[in-house]
Amino acid sequence: MKGRSLLRRTVDLWVGRYAEPDPAALAAVADLKPIVVVTGGSRGIGLALARRFAKAGHDVAIVARHADALQAAAASIAQEHDVAALAIPMDVTKPDAAERIDAGLAGKGFYLDTLINCAGVGLAGPFVRNPEARIAGLLDLNVTALTRLTRHALPKMLARGSGGILNVASLGGLVPGPNQAAYYASKSYVVSLTRAIATENAGRGVRFMALAPGPVNTGFHDAMGAELSFYRQLLLALSADQTARAAYRAYVSGCHLFVPGVTGKLLQIAVWIIPHALVLPIVGWLLRRREERPWSDTPDKDR
Ligand SMILES: NC(=O)c1ccc[n+]([C@@H]2O[C@H](COP(=O)([O-])OP(=O)(O)OC[C@H]3O[C@@H](n4cnc5c(N)ncnc54)[C@H](OP(=O)(O)O)[C@@H]3O)[C@@H](O)[C@H]2O)c1
Repeated sequence: MKGRSLLRRTVDLWVGRYAEPDPAALAAVADLKPIVVVTGGSRGIGLALARRFAKAGHDVAIVARHADALQAAAASIAQEHDVAALAIPMDVTKPDAAERIDAGLAGKGFYLDTLINCAGVGLAGPFVRNPEARIAGLLDLNVTALTRLTRHALPKMLARGSGGILNVASLGGLVPGPNQAAYYASKSYVVSLTRAIATENAGRGVRFMALAPGPVNTGFHDAMGAELSFYRQLLLALSADQTARAAYRAYVSGCHLFVPGVTGKLLQIAVWIIPHALVLPIVGWLLRRREERPWSDTPDKDR
């Protein structure tokens, strides 16, 4: 990693004010190099975050299911930033994903120092019409896999008194989301979990941040069938690179919850101060797909 900025060193001192590194935990990684692991790192926000950390001099390992896109992304990061960039093709919802990531890293001489849980999926439409299998898949990825990876990595970070966990939530995690109900609820869990464990472990040397972006221009909205929703027409969206740049600054500064962009921050304030009785119908309208037949309860076909 390149030399740490004064800001980073100062925040490191604060973040580690009660850290008591365990010599055995440090010895266990003495022959390995630290690396930043980014799930969902093959495209979109995850790839932009991996590039941003690589730009700061960190070696990175990106994880996603489709090996070809992943290898190409890793090769471009390595070439652009002169760091090691590993591709670990896998589905992070598999129960042994955390152990397989550790094994993959150790085989190449690395250990997980910073975990970025970015892999996530959305689901649009009224909850009653969301196919049960799609809801289960969303919870497996957005909630269970993120929780399992976090729970697996955290004890070793605390024992070393260093590292960090950046969980990608959403602005939707700050308010219920009619017409994307399960997705918003899953991101609310991510915000809540991340802030709670940040408080439980304050000063023990590990950074925690929930990143809560508003709309970002990636293929995410199209993939969940929300490209025609009113929010996509009406709200200004950030690029993945803008999101990653701002997120990196906030992470280094020790933020626990961060909403990037001016529009995102205005919306964050709006959902804080406007009563939910007024906000929820507006959010529901913004999230409604233009072609939606409002009163049909027939489940949407799997896309
Ligand atoms: N775009 C937005 O407006 C927005 C706003 C707020 C929050 N977010 C959050 O930001 C995160 C990334 O969103 P994005 O817009 O960058 O999405 P994206 O472009 O669709 O990228 C999703 C990434 O996750 C990977 N992935 C999906 N399922 C996976 C699995 N089971 N195991 C491993 N990797 C998996 C994908 O690769 P493979 O398909 O190859 O697995 C891909 O790399 C998500 O958590 C999303 O909820 C997005």
